[in-house]
Amino acid sequence: MKGVIPAAGLGTRMLPATKSQPKEMLPVAKKPVIQYIVEEMEAAGIKDILIITGKNKRAIEDHFDRDPILLEDLKKKNKVNQLHDLEALENLNVQIFYVRQAIPTGLADAVYKAKEFVGNDNFVVALGDTIIDSSQSPIHLARLIDFHRKAKAVCALSVEEIPLEHCNRYGILAVSPFLEEQKSTQTKGKYLVKDLIEKPSPKEAPSNLAICGRYVFSPVIFDYIKQVKVGKGGEKQLTDAMHLLRKEGRIVALQLAESEKRFDTGSFPLYAKAFVSFCLRDKEIGEELRAFLKNLEL
Ligand code: G1P
Repeated sequence: MKGVIPAAGLGTRMLPATKSQPKEMLPVAKKPVIQYIVEEMEAAGIKDILIITGKNKRAIEDHFDRDPILLEDLKKKNKVNQLHDLEALENLNVQIFYVRQAIPTGLADAVYKAKEFVGNDNFVVALGDTIIDSSQSPIHLARLIDFHRKAKAVCALSVEEIPLEHCNRYGILAVSPFLEEQKSTQTKGKYLVKDLIEKPSPKEAPSNLAICGRYVFSPVIFDYIKQVKVGKGGEKQLTDAMHLLRKEGRIVALQLAESEKRFDTGSFPLYAKAFVSFCLRDKEIGEELRAFLKNLEL
C-alpha cells in the first residue's frame, strides 16, 4: 500500500516560526515532525510515500535527501551519536516522492494531488503535522490498514475521544457499534461511521469522536473529492468528501488504544506539549530537562 502525507498547509497558527520554514520541519526532540510520520509509515510496511508540499516547503526535500559529505564528515570527527541518528534517517526503507500544491485550497484538494501516484490501489493518508505515538504491536496504523481490509470498507479512519468543547477543531463522527461478522458482538474501539461533519459546534456535534489524522482510502474517494464544494474555513474539506463517500460502501473507524496518543503540532500550546513529552523520554535530553522542570515548579 502507498502512503500520502499532505504537508502543503501554510502553518499560519505557527507564525512567525513558520514564515519561511515548513511547520512539518519544526523539531520535536531531535527530529522534525514529518520524520516521525515517515517512520510510522515505514513501520506499517509502506514503502512508497508521496509528500504533498507547497510554498516554502523545500526543507522537507532536503531533509530526506542523502548527504554523503555530511556523513563522511561526522565519521572523520567521530561524532558517534549524530552519525547514528543520521544513518537511521538515511537508511529508512522508503522511497519518497513529491508533488506541489501551489495554492492551499484545502485538505481534499491536497489529497487529490495523489490520484496519479496511487493509481488503482488502496492508500494511506497521514497528516504531516500529527504524530501518533504508538508503542503497541502492531502499531496503530498497521491495525487500521488491517481493519480496512477485513471490514471490506471504502475508508477506515483513526479516531479519539475529545472534550466536546473542542469539537469545532476536528472532523466529528456519528457512529454505531461495529459488529464482527461471526461473533455479532461489538468490538471495543471499532465503529461503523454513519456520518461525518467537519468542525461542528458542540451543539451540532453527533458525538465526541474526532478524526485524528490517519485514513485508509479506496481510490474511489477521488470521484467524491471532485464533487466537494468549498466548506468550513473557505477550504475544500476531506471530511465533506467522506460524507459523500458513504454511498459507495462502509466507512469504519478505529479508536486509538489507551496507551496510544495523538500529538498535534499545528498550534503553539500543542506543539509545546509534544516537544516536552518527546524530550523527556530522550536518553540524552530527558534527565537534564526533568531536573530543570522540577526546579521551575518550586
Ligand atoms: C484536519 C481535518 C479534520 C481532522 C484534523 C485532525 O483539520 O480536516 O477533520 O479532525 O485535521 O488533526 P485541520 O487540523 O487541518 O484544521
